[in-house]
Amino acid sequence: MTKLSMPTAKSIPLLGAGTYPLVGEDCYRAVRMALGQGLRHIDTAQMYGNERDVGRAIADSGLPRSEIFVVTKVDPGNLSASRFVSTVARSVDELGGPPDLLLIHWPPAEGEFTAVLDRLMAEYRKGNARAIGVSNFSPAMMRSAQKHCEGAIVNNQVEFHPLLDQSAILAAARELGIAVSAYSPLARGAALKPQPISAIAHRLGRPPSEVVLRWILQQGVVAIPMTTARPHHQPHLDGGPLGTVSWRPFPSPIAGRERHYGRTPSSP
Ligand SMILES: NC(=O)c1ccc[n+]([C@@H]2O[C@H](COP(=O)([O-])OP(=O)(O)OC[C@H]3O[C@@H](n4cnc5c(N)ncnc54)[C@H](OP(=O)(O)O)[C@@H]3O)[C@@H](O)[C@H]2O)c1
Repeated sequence: MTKLSMPTAKSIPLLGAGTYPLVGEDCYRAVRMALGQGLRHIDTAQMYGNERDVGRAIADSGLPRSEIFVVTKVDPGNLSASRFVSTVARSVDELGGPPDLLLIHWPPAEGEFTAVLDRLMAEYRKGNARAIGVSNFSPAMMRSAQKHCEGAIVNNQVEFHPLLDQSAILAAARELGIAVSAYSPLARGAALKPQPISAIAHRLGRPPSEVVLRWILQQGVVAIPMTTARPHHQPHLDGGPLGTVSWRPFPSPIAGRERHYGRTPSSP
């Protein structure tokens, strides 16, 4: 099999905007707001039912499409050969062009694992994705996928925040040259509350959300928080005044509360 020429993981903007569970005008407004506040990375998925809203918001933003990094994901119900092709074509149409990154939203069943990866690579070769990756893959699954795809997997999007120890996924991803993206980076608000985080926020005089996001970003992990209403803090996170936020690896009061907040946990 010939090697795919893929962009490096470094070309993914570290801070992006999530869009689940927003649909319709709510999604349109949130994406326009994120782009207006300077974010250039939007995360969507077939499952969210909002790709058309994301595409419309991007088109109406007036920004060159080349400046925006768009991620979408193939729904677990669309992994069969025929549905994969037809639904990716629909995603491309609704988004107004190929996504910068096309992910498999959820690990395929064992018997289908390599066939699904082949379908993903075929879409890349057709030009329906500028890069390909996975989501919710364990370290073992990342290894198998990267081997099968000969290094073409550039990203694994997993639940990642200070209430969850994902160090095994991060270590495997670094070894394999795969960028990790953090979904539910604020643990849907729960990561903002523990005392160690509020203490750091108080000391720095910044909101807990900035502390949590900076802690994720400074590990080289991409973060895609979703907000309908709040500023995205980009100036403070993008080389801004926060400095390095360190607590290593997780203070025990936080590790003791380990919980999943995303759709379902990433298996080890
Ligand atoms: N690959 C996957 O399987 C998967 C699974 C889940 C999610 N995702 C993606 O990851 C994105 C983010 O994850 P998520 O939406 O689950 O969780 P999240 O981003 O951790 O949390 C979103 C919640 O935090 C609140 N929030 C945002 N900024 C805040 C701030 N500065 N201060 C206080 N609260 C704040 C939001 O409320 P307001 O709207 O009021 O600001 C919203 O209720 C999703 O939108 C989706 O794109 C992917």
